[in-house]
Amino acid sequence: MTAISIEFSGRPAAGPVVLNVALVAKDEALVDLPSALIDEAARQRFKGAIGESAWVGDSPGVFLAVIGIGDAAHASGLRRAAYYAVECARSLKVDSLQVSLSCDISDEAVAFLAQGLRLSTWSFDQYKKAKDPETSPPELREVLVVGDIARANAFARGLVLADAVCFARDLVNEHPGVCTPTWLAEQARERALSLGLEVQVFDEKELEARGFLLHLAVARGSSQPARFLHAVYRPSGPVERKVALVGKGVTFDSGGYSIKPSSSMVDMHMDMGGAAAVIGAMDAIGHAKPEGVEVHFIAPMAENLISGNAYKINEIIRGYNGTTVEIIDTDAEGRLLLADALAYAAEQGVDEIVDLATLTGACIVGLGMETAGLFSSSDRLSEALRDAAREADEAVWPLPLVERMNDKLKSRVADIKNLGPRWGGAVSAALFLKRFVGDTPWAHLDIAGPAMAESAWETLNAGGTGFGVLLLAQYLGVRAE
Ligand code: BES
Ligand code: ZN
Ligand code: ZN
Repeated sequence: MTAISIEFSGRPAAGPVVLNVALVAKDEALVDLPSALIDEAARQRFKGAIGESAWVGDSPGVFLAVIGIGDAAHASGLRRAAYYAVECARSLKVDSLQVSLSCDISDEAVAFLAQGLRLSTWSFDQYKKAKDPETSPPELREVLVVGDIARANAFARGLVLADAVCFARDLVNEHPGVCTPTWLAEQARERALSLGLEVQVFDEKELEARGFLLHLAVARGSSQPARFLHAVYRPSGPVERKVALVGKGVTFDSGGYSIKPSSSMVDMHMDMGGAAAVIGAMDAIGHAKPEGVEVHFIAPMAENLISGNAYKINEIIRGYNGTTVEIIDTDAEGRLLLADALAYAAEQGVDEIVDLATLTGACIVGLGMETAGLFSSSDRLSEALRDAAREADEAVWPLPLVERMNDKLKSRVADIKNLGPRWGGAVSAALFLKRFVGDTPWAHLDIAGPAMAESAWETLNAGGTGFGVLLLAQYLGVRAE
């Protein structure tokens, strides 16, 4: 992994081949730079927009570059600009990248720069054979950011947030032979304890005793037992609001007896992307310790498999809050886990609940792979989450809770059934969830698309994306400034 640090003395980067980068805002005059670089930038019509860069060879083993950061007032642009600096370093095959900070760059921008550097250099490669240094091209070994000591805190804040995203990415990418409910709950528990948070993990016996019977029904087909995470962050000062975050943690979704075609089953270990976002947010909150907000991190975990013991179609199961559910489709399992978890969250006396779930393919059909669907019973909560998403550069778009569609969830034999009509599948799934939150203001993010990316794009890698961590951190008051 690339080491990323901030240096105050401007020690020369250690690698034999170094790229020195100056960050340049849009239409900023190029001054105090070698004339060869100024000429090259002019030749390429470099204007300082994000995505623009120009470089020259200086002395043997030393390259110089300018990287555009766009409008200097938009600090979050530095996250993207960081990626282009890393890209430039990679294309030149240097060992070290050194980024000089001018005093015009705000602390907030420094935090975004650190974030972008970490996100762009992270990779999930522990299952790949180690590269032979003799035959493979050199890798970017280190990134040094050179600025004065007053920048260290902002830089560290940026890294903490990016590390939380990378933690979530690692969890999503871990393959389902390793990432079982027990393993996932243990990762979360260890992290919570190391951050000094309160944490409880319910095992299958505890879940049965407490009546999480919808959750247990999904887990029944697997020899891997169900788990349920509940960690709590309490601020040191007064509590102004209490928030519960709830994440779907299906560590593998085969569909159960409503089995998926094998091509749709590929990547279904990512069906715990909601839980990963909640655990990543827990990491961010536990480090940043925001004031005034108490946060409950809740994640029901199970595998949806097939066996002689698996739950069947037409079974009627009574959930945690007493509602009976007729199972029409065992592949609509996420809403069953969430039904119990949301009812439990509402019982914690929180002011609002936000859930994240890789819930429906229908949401991907509607919004594409990049954008999460946002449903909410509260306009205020919906607006606040949209604002947070904009800051976090994570795409969300509101979808409607069409009350009339509730009729489509009526069951002849139970209070509700777990499958709506083919059309509007993301909406009926959200309406199903709404039945379990009571009066607590609630929002649901269907992250089936953005939890995993087919290909890399700027700071976003291919594979598990950690989508939701930055949005939640921003929403809970963990800010870059
Ligand atoms: N985990 C899937 C949803 C999903 C699909 C996530 C594609 C990521 C990518 C969910 O449990 C599921 O199977 N949903 C069904 C719902 C249907 C049975 C109502 C679907 O989307 O087909
Ligand atoms: Zn499913
Ligand atoms: Zn699923």
